[in-house]
Amino acid sequence: MSNHLGQCSAWRELISRIEEYGEPLVSDLFAADSDRFRRYSCALEDLLVDLSRHALDDQDWQGLFRLAEQRRLNEQVEALFSGNVVNLSEGRPALHTALRQPADATLQVEGEDITAQVHEQLARMGELVTALRAGQVFGFDGRPITDIVSIGIGGSECGVTMAYEALAPYAQGGLRLHTVSGVDGRELLAAWSRIDPATTLFVVASKSFTTQETLTNARSAWQWLEQAAGHAVAEQFVGISVDDQAMADFGIPPQNRFFVWEWVGGRYSLPSAMGLPLAAVIGMENFRELLQGMHDMDTHFRSAPMAENIPVMLGLLGVWQISLRGASGHALLPYHPGLRRFPAYVQQLDMESLGKSVTQTGEQVDCSTGAIFWGEIGSNAQHSFFQWLHQGTGRVITELVSPVDEQDCPIDHQALILSNVLGQAEALALGRTPSAAEAAAEHRHYSGNRPVTLVLFKRLDPRTLGRLVAMHEHRVFVQAAIWGINPFDQWGVELGKQLAKQLVPVLRGESGVDQLNPATAGAIDWIKRWG
Ligand code: F6P
Repeated sequence: MSNHLGQCSAWRELISRIEEYGEPLVSDLFAADSDRFRRYSCALEDLLVDLSRHALDDQDWQGLFRLAEQRRLNEQVEALFSGNVVNLSEGRPALHTALRQPADATLQVEGEDITAQVHEQLARMGELVTALRAGQVFGFDGRPITDIVSIGIGGSECGVTMAYEALAPYAQGGLRLHTVSGVDGRELLAAWSRIDPATTLFVVASKSFTTQETLTNARSAWQWLEQAAGHAVAEQFVGISVDDQAMADFGIPPQNRFFVWEWVGGRYSLPSAMGLPLAAVIGMENFRELLQGMHDMDTHFRSAPMAENIPVMLGLLGVWQISLRGASGHALLPYHPGLRRFPAYVQQLDMESLGKSVTQTGEQVDCSTGAIFWGEIGSNAQHSFFQWLHQGTGRVITELVSPVDEQDCPIDHQALILSNVLGQAEALALGRTPSAAEAAAEHRHYSGNRPVTLVLFKRLDPRTLGRLVAMHEHRVFVQAAIWGINPFDQWGVELGKQLAKQLVPVLRGESGVDQLNPATAGAIDWIKRWG
């Protein structure tokens, strides 16, 4: 059966409406309805998501809700939470929501209670984290561990790095965290220059335990430590993977092996044992608060009616702006320095999940799907690419994110930050009617109607961060569910990895360039000349 959106009457109705009415001015929509802010914003306690500045009216939203019904969104959400096989190309469930369920929940997958398994790993993590923070884990010369080097890449690194920055004020146990992902060796060297081998724990985080970058760095770290100690020091290595045997083969002792499951996607794995390095520095209580925040959003997503449901509203809006209104990007702009890595984190989540052009049933999609996702700290971006957002020819969703708690601002600058957030939102959405003097000067025109979402919350703490992460996970799920694509696979990254593997012997001079494409052969000649 075709999974094309064009099959849905609700989709065709939305298109006809757009063709008939074009896009209303946001300023007109507010003039006609001063209650828009209340009606088009959703909240979960102190977390507010305001969609009132997007140029949609009640009829547009009703059309999107009908579309969600015709795409059986509710059933798809239930399938996700219940552990059905929702990742068809890999034949497995996607149960990141089970990673943050309370211990008394039960969820059977293929006859096994996975909540019990999840909490068993959390308990094991808790033991190691507590011992590390109490100075009871020792390096090869008997001194306690002071530094953790987390080696991983993609979903096995992004979340930890992002959350470590976001929750820096909670990192008070004295342990320092360093993350290494790139394979060129510079990050590893930089980490080595900051640590003492005798007091460092290396955490090798790789779901597959086959990723070239991670294993290469891990092997180099093993040798470095061995040289420093004069013997192999397996106890200073921790592994996190689905593959016990691969961790064993690497040399990681059984008590230091932590497990994730096939049903946890890399980019959804922060709340699993992949979060161990983070938990070590912020403490298990704060890590559990992060999980609680995710669970709060899971519960909200599973139960709130569509019009009040934050991820549903955001996801439908994503479909509207990208597939119906031609938006080609989504800029995430947090006004908090701790969220510096948050855009990169959500970028992986969004683009690896939604960068698809075939449906779950293998047909070419019949509309645009995932857009370019990027971002930067809002204040800095105002002085770099905001010009493009305000007056460029492209259309993107701009998402402004800010805490509101004055008490949390170390110096009394909160009003300045918030005035910028609100001022930018207003300029993007409403623009400005040119004055008589300005009318002739085209460069002084602000068209407005640039799609902007406002996200406000009290303060950046572990629970809020958990809510923000899960909000985007589910927003992405909603978009994928409507588009009919699989948000849990990433086949697109495989070919590049395979080709890179084949080129290693050529670059090492072990085989010739004869079989290669002329462009690759030319580049290799250049590399050999100058490299
Ligand atoms: O780049 C693709 C990818 O598979 C990501 O999805 C994943 O997060 C990353 O590589 C790392 O994979 P692993 O955890 O298996 O090392």
